[in-house]
Amino acid sequence: MGSGLGRWSIPLAREGFAVTAVDISKEAIDLLEGWARKLGLKIAVNVSAAQYLTVCDGQFDAVVCNSVLDHMTYANAALSMDNIHRILKIDGIAFLTFDGPGESDTDNFESLADGSRVYDAGNRKGMIWRFFPDMEIRTLVKDFELTQFNVGVNGSREIWLRKAID
Ligand SMILES: C[S@@+](CC[C@H](N)C(=O)[O-])C[C@H]1O[C@@H](n2cnc3c(N)ncnc32)[C@H](O)[C@@H]1O
Repeated sequence: MGSGLGRWSIPLAREGFAVTAVDISKEAIDLLEGWARKLGLKIAVNVSAAQYLTVCDGQFDAVVCNSVLDHMTYANAALSMDNIHRILKIDGIAFLTFDGPGESDTDNFESLADGSRVYDAGNRKGMIWRFFPDMEIRTLVKDFELTQFNVGVNGSREIWLRKAID
């Protein structure tokens, strides 16, 4: 979910997993497909916003969502978590990461009501970034069994979840 250029999708496909790469960016998906083609790997793709994803319920054994929810408003992250829950099988697992509280950062941004930044200049122009405090993450994942909540030295978080019930 939020596959980008395939940093996770390609190694997982190489290991024999049946991978579906979802990203809001068609450009990212095109590059991912080109990389997969060069390596002779089959990866299903879906250009879609995670919050509006329409794929069938209960299809996937696992969802990887690395450095993606940070780039959404809280409301869209909550909708994306509903979709991750919906598309997983019972006992399916999800791996999520969230950035730490902040980099020292010189790019200009505007702040939305929920604290999301929208950069209006520099390399990140147009990009959303938001810091999710631990308590918000725990609320976002309330429908899952939380199996690991690891905090890195820079305050980044790695979250492992299991879908216990529909
Ligand atoms: C920082 S990159 C991470 C890419 C990849 N997960 C990785 O670890 O290399 C964030 C990715 O999330 C995608 N993205 C941002 N908002 C999204 C959304 N609402 N739905 C789906 N993908 C989104 C971006 O297009 C970008 O490819």
